[in-house]
Amino acid sequence: MNRSEQKRALACAVTAAKASGQLMRKNLRATKKIASATQHDIKLELDVLCQKRIERLLRRAFPDIAILGEEGVLGDPTAARRWVVDPIDGTVNFTYGIPHCCVSIALQIRPARAAEYRTVVGVVYDPFCDELWTAIRGGPARLNGKIIRVSQQRRLDEALVSVGFAKQTHSLNKMLPTFNQLIHRVRKIRIMGAAALAMVYVASGRLDAYLEYGLRLWDIAAGGLILECAGGEFWRQPLADDYAYHVKAGNGRLRRQLAQFE
Ligand code: IPD
Ligand code: CA
Repeated sequence: MNRSEQKRALACAVTAAKASGQLMRKNLRATKKIASATQHDIKLELDVLCQKRIERLLRRAFPDIAILGEEGVLGDPTAARRWVVDPIDGTVNFTYGIPHCCVSIALQIRPARAAEYRTVVGVVYDPFCDELWTAIRGGPARLNGKIIRVSQQRRLDEALVSVGFAKQTHSLNKMLPTFNQLIHRVRKIRIMGAAALAMVYVASGRLDAYLEYGLRLWDIAAGGLILECAGGEFWRQPLADDYAYHVKAGNGRLRRQLAQFE
């Protein structure tokens, strides 16, 4: 895919993210229909409606590219090119009317004979702050068009670090010791409930690092690219569950200190 096609893909992902964001804005204070719920997770009918909006726009512009979304798959998700979509990241916040959630769309390509996908385009949109993060691999990361960089923080004891607690009991149990140790070593911990936003907050220098065990690809694909393009580091280790990862995202200067924590 050449540069001008990547730019077209970025523009299309921005349009789709904004369309989903519009529906989120309209419904923030509404009573939402819950499609299903478990102890630590909620699925809304709006999750699916937002994904459908995104699918329609991506498919119209790129009919041949598969879509791997949190709310369903279109085409072959192992194809050489695929969109990775989270229509609402931070659904629990959204359900409770907390305006801290976003849309995340990435375009991934698997080069011939390679096993791993590379994210080439990333878009994260916060419809409540009207903040749009974008990146094309090899270029700078931008927030509302302005180039962003990670923080310069080298001291863990002055760092603002976000952690996330995923949905399954084993992920929670895995994160709790990290939380317990980290809280005494950093300036402040934040648990904000939208992984993609945490990643782009690190990219923007608002947070110094973000750690979570048990994230899914759609939570991190776009934010990971944006973070790398902003000079940060996006360490991830695949876990046994489908598309699941252990993630440490940071400004790069705290790598050694963060390595001590699981
Ligand atoms: C969740 C959020 C949350 C994180 C979970 C994710 P969802 O995504 O990003 O912050 O802790 O691991 O699954 O379900 O709201 O799209
Ligand atoms: Ca979601």
